[in-house]
Amino acid sequence: MIEVLKMRRKLVLGNWKMHGAIGTNAQLLQAIRQHLTTSSLPVDVGVCVPAPYLSQTRDLLTGSDMKWGAQDVSAHAKGAFTGEISAAMLAEFGSQYVIVGHSERRAYHGETADAVGAKARQAIVAGLVPVVCVGETLHERDAGMAEQVVRNQLSDVLAFVGSENPAQIVIAYEPVWAIGTGRSASAADAQAIHAALRACLSEHGEAMNQTRILYGGSIKPNNAHELLTCADIDGALIGGASLVASDFISIIDSASRAASASTVSDEVFDAGVKP
Ligand code: PGA
Repeated sequence: MIEVLKMRRKLVLGNWKMHGAIGTNAQLLQAIRQHLTTSSLPVDVGVCVPAPYLSQTRDLLTGSDMKWGAQDVSAHAKGAFTGEISAAMLAEFGSQYVIVGHSERRAYHGETADAVGAKARQAIVAGLVPVVCVGETLHERDAGMAEQVVRNQLSDVLAFVGSENPAQIVIAYEPVWAIGTGRSASAADAQAIHAALRACLSEHGEAMNQTRILYGGSIKPNNAHELLTCADIDGALIGGASLVASDFISIIDSASRAASASTVSDEVFDAGVKP
């Protein structure tokens, strides 16, 4: 179990949504990049930007420790799908991650479980890591169905992508009622769902213990520490706060402290001393 924990490096990923402009993107990315070069981080950091800004993002981040990617991808490899962007196109711009199945896409664009699964599979084929979002609505939570809903969403996508290579996929638990509302899940509630998702992953083979599960939904500098120190929360998917350099940097720092603390306690534990 300790070995497994060490292998799940925390990931802090920004989701810009439909925000940005060439001028402000440059300021934001340069500020974050600058911060990463002054401190060596024990976490992975990336930004998922609107597709037209992938070229600019690549130019500004190449040579840094930051990764980048997109917020959606076509369920098809290529062809007559006007307006769609293929996974291979995203890869050509150096993307490493792509968000799939975000609740805004499921709700406003009618994305079905099959479409989300097909998108995740296209991403993997092109060498990208799909960040698959799952999460319950407030109605589902109030009905006591939160755990079942997210387990079903996870199983649906695993049916498409298989479980041969757990590092090929990242899961993001984003309760719909917490996104953009300023009302985050409590650390205890988030941890409970993450533990359920982890148990679901384990049912698909022990290797799936290495799959990272991020939390998303109103993560801010003031709640990041509490969430990121939970045992089964392997990082953060951040919307609003990823657009403010100082907020995003503060959350990266919280993740780094959480990662360093867990490494130290593992080493003490490995040495046979109780932490
Ligand atoms: P938020 O968005 O941090 O603004 O709540 C998170 C997301 O939708 O990924």
